[in-house]
Amino acid sequence: MEPRTIGVVGAGQMGSGIEQVASQAGYRVILRDLEDGLVRKGIEGIARQLDRAVEKQKITPAEREQAVSRIEGTTSLEKLAAADFVVEAAPERLDIKLDVFAALDRLCPAETILATNTSSLPVTRIAAATGRPDRVIGMHFMNPVPVMKLVEVIRGLQTSDETRAAVFDLAERLGKTPVECRDFPGFVSNRVLMPMINEAVYCLQEGVATREAIDTVMKLGMNHPMGPLALADLIGLDTCLAILEVLHDGLGEDKYRPCPLLRKYVEAGWLGRKNGRGFYTY
Ligand code: CAA
Repeated sequence: MEPRTIGVVGAGQMGSGIEQVASQAGYRVILRDLEDGLVRKGIEGIARQLDRAVEKQKITPAEREQAVSRIEGTTSLEKLAAADFVVEAAPERLDIKLDVFAALDRLCPAETILATNTSSLPVTRIAAATGRPDRVIGMHFMNPVPVMKLVEVIRGLQTSDETRAAVFDLAERLGKTPVECRDFPGFVSNRVLMPMINEAVYCLQEGVATREAIDTVMKLGMNHPMGPLALADLIGLDTCLAILEVLHDGLGEDKYRPCPLLRKYVEAGWLGRKNGRGFYTY
């Protein structure tokens, strides 16, 4: 059955991007975050993105209105019981995700697929917090969600073929290209991306070059749309550190050791674009 209503847990950077593309694709969206202020901020951010799309004549004012009207904000997890498909985009902490999935499993009808947008945590472990591990899967969107085409689909050990097929179908209806991979730390995207970002931070720490020079080398020399330090700021330095720790713990190799300078920035509260200061100031 094609889902009509998509529930999304979290209205942060990733959650609001998923909510935006789902509402633009014609789905009813139940946007859930912990506090009224966060729900409001999520909906206002989506409305701003849609305003920009109207200004650029990518969508009509009527399409903008319809997309916004399809989103229902709530602080109640219970409301997600009305969704046909749920995507969790809560913070990247296993304890939080395990609690959310156990609660969703209690609340949602048995046939509802529960997907996690985790960028590196074990999908098999998250699935085991529910009584429906066959209907739990990783659906990893890239940032910024409205722009990036990829959805990395991660099958847990017990994920069924039907669930995999439903997620591929949904990703395509959202205008994305799904790619399947297995449940190993960091999957493919972050196993390849994070060591590059980490190495760029080592270059900065060791004074090999300035932050601008490091980013320019990768932009002009390798045709990356942005340099690795600017990209780390976009992703969030706390998220980069958390993913590197998952890689380091899960794969046990020194090559994934987070650079001390990255750790120091996170300790200082320099988290990147989201709070105005990372490797650059915003
Ligand atoms: N939300 C929505 N749209 C956005 C956006 C955002 N946050 N940021 C940029 N855009 C849109 C712009 O509106 C613009 O749209 P139009 O072409 O329709 O006008 C388009 O993207 C291009 O933006 P800009 O012209 O402002 O700037 P740009 O050409 O430098 O592109 C970028 C910006 C898309 C972010 C580009 O630099 C890029 O692709 N960077 C790399 C992003 C990347 O690697 N993402 C993956 C991160 S890893 C990840 O997400 C996984 C993980 O687990 C950590």
